[in-house]
Amino acid sequence: MFSAKVLFLAAVAVCYGAPNTKITNLRLGLHGATDAKIEDYPFMASLQYCLNKTCYHVCGGVIIKDRWILAGVGFTWEASKAVVGASNLHGHDKVIVDIEAVFRHPNYSRDFQGPNDVGLFKLSEALTFNDKVQPAKLPSQGQEFNGTFVVNGYNSITTADYSILQAVTNLSLISNDDCYDKFKKLLPYEKIVIDDDSNICTFSGASNTCSGDFGGPLSQNGTVVGTVTWTIKPCGASGAPNVYTKVSNFIDWINQTITENS
Ligand SMILES: *[C@@H]1O[C@H](CO)[C@@H](O)[C@H](O)[C@H]1NC(C)=O
Ligand SMILES: *[C@@H]1O[C@H](CO)[C@@H](O)[C@H](O)[C@H]1NC(C)=O
Ligand SMILES: *[C@@H]1O[C@H](CO)[C@@H](O)[C@H](O)[C@H]1NC(C)=O
Ligand SMILES: *[C@@H]1O[C@H](CO)[C@@H](O)[C@H](O)[C@H]1NC(C)=O
Ligand SMILES: *[C@@H]1O[C@H](CO)[C@@H](O)[C@H](O)[C@H]1NC(C)=O
Ligand SMILES: *[C@@H]1O[C@H](CO)[C@@H](O)[C@H](O)[C@H]1NC(C)=O
Repeated sequence: MFSAKVLFLAAVAVCYGAPNTKITNLRLGLHGATDAKIEDYPFMASLQYCLNKTCYHVCGGVIIKDRWILAGVGFTWEASKAVVGASNLHGHDKVIVDIEAVFRHPNYSRDFQGPNDVGLFKLSEALTFNDKVQPAKLPSQGQEFNGTFVVNGYNSITTADYSILQAVTNLSLISNDDCYDKFKKLLPYEKIVIDDDSNICTFSGASNTCSGDFGGPLSQNGTVVGTVTWTIKPCGASGAPNVYTKVSNFIDWINQTITENS
């Protein structure tokens, strides 16, 4: 039922997928990360799929307003709940809210690496903000960033059990051309698409994001700059960058969608 979108032998959408023997011995989730506290990243959300009252983390998301979570849409099933305020998804201090409606960018292509991988998840009730639950700031339309960034995900040690909030800090952006070249070096015979209107990349020597991190935030001082969209397996692949949706190119769509549906 859970199937990661796999286009290439080695390249996958960074989403929860079937257990993959190639990565059994790696700690799934953010590679090179350390445990983090939700108070430091209170905009972090876990989108969950529920079956018979059991819910599973499928992807990350970012709180941007009290009833809105921003994430990618490149996963193939419906998340029905959002969990916020959790340093540990199995902890007791989390808040669980129903997802009432999902708005996908109209130009999202279901192709792997498709551009416009952005969606808005409307919650059935407003979140109460506190030190563990806060919205991320949005950039302005077209804003460019430099400096260092942080990406968050919920890590897992076994393939099915995402739990502990993680952060990789001190990430730097690289140009999209450089990003393309680095993937080409690793996958010379594959089609690589880094879309200037949709994507930004970070590079720290090896890929950081992995299964389950999809949709999660790349941020700088509380501003959400990107959402995880894809990278390659195995997790932590040496020489591989990470690709994100460039949030600042979707602010007009985000604002318009929220305004029309509030
Ligand atoms: C879910 O619950 C229903 C009704 O109790 C049952 O028929 C079904 O087999 C369950 N599905 C799974 C996957 O456990
Ligand atoms: C989708 O693509 C069409 C054709 O390029 C464009 O006119 C339209 O503005 C795009 N929609 C959004 C929300 O960006
Ligand atoms: C639109 O985006 C800006 C960020 O550039 C934000 O400050 C503003 O609140 C947004 N407006 C709405 C209606 O969400
Ligand atoms: C980095 O961003 C800041 C603030 O947006 C800007 O003032 C500065 O010129 C930028 N530096 C570079 C090297 O682009
Ligand atoms: C961040 O990365 C730069 C180079 O990539 C390095 O020089 C610096 O020491 C790092 N800072 C921390 C706090 O890790
Ligand atoms: C982020 O915030 C810290 C402390 O508030 C500040 O020193 C730093 O310059 C900020 N960085 C950027 C890129 O705005």
